[in-house]
Amino acid sequence: MLKGKHIVLGITGGIAAYKSVTLLRLLVKAGAEVQVVITPSGKEFITPVTLSALSGKPVICDFFTANTGEWHSHVDIGLWADAMVIAPATASTIGKMANGIADNMLVTTYLSAKAPVFVAPAMDLDMMAHPSTKANIEKLRSYGNHIIEPASGELASHLVGKGRMEEPENIVKVLDRFFDDPADLPLSGKQVLITAGPTYEKIDPVRFIGNYSSGKMGYALARKAADMGADVVLVSGPVSLTIDHPRVRVVRVESACEMLAACVEAFPSSRLSIMCAAVADYALEHVESAKIKREHGEAPVLRLVKNPDIAATLGQMKAPGQILAGFALETDHEMSNAVEKINKKNLDFIVLNSLRDEGAGFRTDTNKITIIEAGGAVHPYELKSKDEVAADIIRFSIDKL
Ligand code: CTP
Repeated sequence: MLKGKHIVLGITGGIAAYKSVTLLRLLVKAGAEVQVVITPSGKEFITPVTLSALSGKPVICDFFTANTGEWHSHVDIGLWADAMVIAPATASTIGKMANGIADNMLVTTYLSAKAPVFVAPAMDLDMMAHPSTKANIEKLRSYGNHIIEPASGELASHLVGKGRMEEPENIVKVLDRFFDDPADLPLSGKQVLITAGPTYEKIDPVRFIGNYSSGKMGYALARKAADMGADVVLVSGPVSLTIDHPRVRVVRVESACEMLAACVEAFPSSRLSIMCAAVADYALEHVESAKIKREHGEAPVLRLVKNPDIAATLGQMKAPGQILAGFALETDHEMSNAVEKINKKNLDFIVLNSLRDEGAGFRTDTNKITIIEAGGAVHPYELKSKDEVAADIIRFSIDKL
């Protein structure tokens, strides 16, 4: 909760400074008290008058107020802050922060701040890609600063490019989560296990059998469960998504067997487990240790063996009080197949997607689900974004706990 929190908003001289106005407005709207500190070049992009009108406080730029000679104490501002957010943070400011070059009020305040610091870099692609910028960002990370960047792997960042400042709404979300009191949330103190993405079954060192699962649904579930206070273990097959949430621990695996091992370890302490991964049903009986060559005479025949059923294994281990849920992606006989999977895997409920529904399934941003309970109750939902679907599933699970 941002209400009543003291935030120092540092603004530097980048094109994205116009977004700081929105950020400031959102922070104030969320109930935070905001003190803006701006660099001299920041003032070239945005006027202090706008910023002080929105924050209700004079904007600080210089060490002294020119006409009164009043001294601004960077130490006092640093102590007052519950958090410091630097957005946009240019390559130059990041460089100064990383190397202790305190030649303006903003970097001086940063160096004396005791509060957590959040940095939202913004620059063009070439500057972002330069080894010195990358090294400086890594330095900031190693000092314990939080770097806020648009999530990689999401469509938006591919379109707009790396280096773009994270949207103000998302910066506020990161801060909001940071100040969340998890004790007030419905899943606080509870561990939730989620599997996501595909599995890759090796053929030889450079080839595998995989599937089109993007991991989006599982990652959305993990984020939502963590937002509800859960400590999430996200066992993820190979996907390009990332997740940055203090209560989500990602365990990256490749094959079904590795996924099983990670799940068996996390399951006993998990109150809720949702199997969202698209696990390969078969693996190679024999993985070649060297790359299979084309001129090997006959085309090779790949012999497959059945993979372990992770959901069914956990279903066997399930103790009273634990909830185990699965997903079923079906093309026909949806209902009877789903019910059969509930029984075979000892699930409490299954989330059914039918490939016959437009907008459901792999590689889409939307999903249309029906939840079927072990007792036979059926709950249909509308076509929604995967984030909203995740919220429905987590809410449904909370009611069952
Ligand atoms: N699942 C699993 N381990 C497997 C296969 C599936 O944990 N080896 C889980 C999935 O994560 C999902 C549920 O079981 O929650 C159903 O997956 P699905 O692939 O639809 O079921 P299968 O049992 O593989 O049946 P089929 O492929 O024949 O439809």
